[in-house]
Parts: sequence; C-alpha cells; structure tokens
Amino acid sequence: MKPGGQRLLALCLCCAATAAGATPPPLGVEVFVNSRDPPFFRMLDPAKLARARLGHAVFNTPFVPAGTPGAARIDGLGPLFNAPSCDECHNEGADARGPRGDGPAPQNLVVQLQLPGPPDAPLAGDPRYGQELNTASLPSLRPEGSVTIRYQTLHGRYPDGTPWELRDPQYLLSNLRYGPLAAHTIIKPRLAPPLFGDGLLEAVPATVILGEGSSVTAGLPAWRWIGTHRELARFGWQATALSIRDQIGKAMAFEMGLTNPAYPHDDCTSVERDCRAAPNGGTPEVSAQLFDAVIEFVRWLAVPAAPAAAVAAAAHGQGAELFRQVGCAACHRPQLPVVLSAPGGGHVSAVISPYTDLRLHDLGPDLADRDASGERVRSLWRTAPLWGLGYRVGREQQLTLLHDGRARSLEEAILWHDGEARNARLAFENLPAKQRRVLLGWLAAR
Ligand code: HEC
Ligand code: HEC
Repeated sequence: MKPGGQRLLALCLCCAATAAGATPPPLGVEVFVNSRDPPFFRMLDPAKLARARLGHAVFNTPFVPAGTPGAARIDGLGPLFNAPSCDECHNEGADARGPRGDGPAPQNLVVQLQLPGPPDAPLAGDPRYGQELNTASLPSLRPEGSVTIRYQTLHGRYPDGTPWELRDPQYLLSNLRYGPLAAHTIIKPRLAPPLFGDGLLEAVPATVILGEGSSVTAGLPAWRWIGTHRELARFGWQATALSIRDQIGKAMAFEMGLTNPAYPHDDCTSVERDCRAAPNGGTPEVSAQLFDAVIEFVRWLAVPAAPAAAVAAAAHGQGAELFRQVGCAACHRPQLPVVLSAPGGGHVSAVISPYTDLRLHDLGPDLADRDASGERVRSLWRTAPLWGLGYRVGREQQLTLLHDGRARSLEEAILWHDGEARNARLAFENLPAKQRRVLLGWLAAR
C-alpha cells in the first residue's frame, strides 16, 4: 500500500462523525489489488511502515537450520516443526487452503495437543509431544508423527426436500515417534485462519467483549490465567491467545521451533532428548527486532473488500434482515466499536464490521474435539469473524471453513452449527429456498 492522505482523512472524518453522534462508516476494509502485497488499513508513519515491510519480508522468509552460514538472523528452525515460514500456512494472511479430501493433512492444518483442564488454565501439552504435533523435522531427526484425514459423507434434507451433504472428518495419527499420546490428551485439529483485521479485533475494548453495559449475554468471554492475574484472550479458534504478540510467539515456538522474545522455549519435551540436544540459533533465535516487525505487519493488515459483483448482487436483497431474524447476529455481531491510536497522538473511536462477538460458544458435539481415546470433549469456539468472506469465496476454488476446514461452502458451515446455535441453524433450514439463497449471497458480499 502507498501511504496516502486520503486514508488519514477518512480516519479523521470518522472521529468528527463520532463526536457529532452519527454512526461512522465501518473501518478497515480495503480493495486488495495484489494479493501478494496486502494493504494496510491506515496510513503508517515512516518508522512503522518500514517495520511493517520488514515484517512482511520475515513473514515470507523460510527460516533455516541453526548454524547455516550467512543466515544468523533467520536461523534456528526446528529441529521439530510444522512449516518453515508464516506464509506457508497463512498465504499472505488472507486465507487458508485446507484439506481437499482424504489423505495426509495439509501443512496448514496443525494438530495441537492439550491435556484437559479448566477453560481458563494455562495450556498444558501432551507429556511426550508437547503443545503441537510436529509433522516435519530437520534431516538429523525424525518428525513426531503424521496426520491423515478420512472423511465420511453425511446426507440430509432441508424441510423443503432439498438435499445437502457434509463431510465429517476423522483424524488418524501415525508414526508416533515417542510412543502413544496420553489417553486424555485432546487432539485439536486447527486450520490456519485468515489474519486480516486482527489489529482491529485487538482494538475492541475488553469491556465490550465482556458485555458491560449491554444486553449481550450469549457465550462466555475467554479468560486465561497468567501467573496470578487473568487476561482476556481473543485470538485463535478458541481464543486461547491473548494478543497478536502472544499468538505469533506461540506460532514461532511451537510450529516453527523458533525461540523468541515472547516464548523463550520451543516445544521439545523431556523425552525428546534429540530435540533438546540440537544446536540452537541464538538466545532467542528470533531477535526482538524481527519479532516486533512481524507483529507490526500483522497488526495493520486491512480486511479485503468483497468483489464488486457480489456486493451488487446482494444490494437489493433482504440478506442483512434475514441474518438478524434467523439469529446469526446474536453471535456474529455486525458492529463492534474500536479505539485506535491516532496517527498524530491520542486516540480515535471507530466502528468495525467483523461479525463476531469475540466470545466463546458451544456449537455442539459434532464440532467438538476428541481425546486420544476417541471420547468427545466439550469444546468452546470463538465466533468466527465473517468479514472478508466475499474475498475468500471469490478467490478459492474450494472454500475450507470452520476450525478444521471441514465445511466446503458457506452453506455447509451453517449446517454444522448446533448447540447454542441450533435454533439459528434450524431457522435457516426452515427458510424458503429463495431466502436461503439471498442470505448466502449476502454472506458472500461481506
Ligand atoms: C504450521 C502452520 C502455521 C505456521 C507456520 C504459522 N501459523 Fe499462525 N496459525 C496457524 C493456526 C493453525 C492458527 C490457529 C491457532 C488456534 O486456533 O489455536 C494460527 C493462528 C494465527 C493467528 C491468530 C489469528 C486469529 O485471528 O485468531 C495469528 C495472528 C497468526 N497465526 C500469525 C502467524 C505468524 C505471524 C506466523 C509466522 C511467525 C505464523 N502464524 C505461523 C498455523 C500456522
Ligand atoms: C451461538 C453463536 C453462533 C450463532 C447463533 C451462529 N454462529 Fe456462525 N459461528 C459461530 C462459531 C463459534 C463459529 C466457529 C465454529 C468452528 O470453527 O468450529 C462459527 C462459524 C461460522 C462460519 C464459518 C466462518 C469461517 O471462517 O470458518 C460461518 C460462515 C457462519 N458461522 C455463519 C453463520 C450464520 C449464517 C449463522 C446464522 C444462521 C450463524 N453463523 C449463527 C457461532 C455462531
């Protein structure tokens, strides 16, 4: 993105509008001209811009093994990892191409491992494998294991007789190098989510997510204990990460085997002696300068505008009303306030349209995780933001939605909703076919 006066102006108009009590326009959406060069949602001062550009370069750079000559700044990969760069999983932050069908899980569908515990407790990984199953390694070691997916096709019909089909995944872990998982370890398949707009989600005041002063009570806020105090978490499919910084620290440590300023240890456990004995690429392996740069890059990523044709097609329908009537908007909140630092100092208020409440919901047993002995465990999910869906629909040959990419269309994603979202799903199913199409068309224009 070229920094231009126009965006700065837009932001200032926003504050003027807020001051006058009018509803300011949704902030943060930009047309993505070149998907390899995603725009930022506002003008950055030269220092921030330089840092964000460096961060973009780091995002796209594959890290290399410790001790690689001439690569001291980007060495320390692994020895156990999932992918060598952010971009391998996140595709310029814009979308995730999940599993196409039966077979080995793609790199960007990672399997996290977690021991059961209270929802706000610090996460404890499997005693042998740690927080994440690392399916890749440097040549001197072997990966921790491999993941294969097998889908079963489910068939059903809408009340009006129209048939539907879903694919229900089963995850098979094999070649487990250090023996079996603990029986109660929860197997958490997670697809890399889009990253755009994360800086805006981070700018939503905690009081809004907690529902203070409003009638919103559905779901639960995601708390995490950090030592002796609790913090509100908001990133990841289950809102397990406190901030963009926290999530990126985890990604580097657990998915890339890179120690960093936020997570000084990687995911080698006490039984993984070869992993612990491997040479390291510095303490920490990722310098504060590069770490902060990646955070800066992610923080300003704009949300991609829907294709103009999709917006035009949805313009005259009653999609927004149907979304509300059916009950989707109770969780997928169409508007949230944000407080951003102003370019010239101070703060500005604005409104974003993320279609999430950043709260956790139980969507029923069919979406819930299983533990290593095959038992379902109650799982709470952060309402997935729906902004940028139009861009993703327009770009992907096959969509892969929901936390493990099982849904191949907007319609399939809705049909998986159960638990707290059961009534909304039933109301959707009961709409006349034409109105279902109107709602789906409206979603594809977000
Ligand atoms: C091996 C694949 C993989 C790699 C490599 C990876 N990520 Fe991720 N990323 C994921 C997955 C999976 C999640 C979802 C985690 C969860 O739900 O707990 C995620 C979540 C995130 C989120 C939170 C998004 C949201 O809105 O909730 C951010 C930010 C992020 N990653 C940034 C990065 C950055 C920056 C890097 C490089 C340093 C990186 N990731 C490397 C797979 C990956
Ligand atoms: C009770 C809260 C709740 C209600 C009501 C609800 N949703 Fe969701 N929605 C969620 C959660 C939580 C997820 C993430 C679930 C997961 O990944 O397993 C989600 C995911 C989605 C996704 C997939 C997004 C993605 O990026 O993968 C779509 C599309 C969606 N919802 C649309 C709808 C529509 C349309 C309605 C109304 C018919 C609706 N939802 C009602 C909570 C809700």
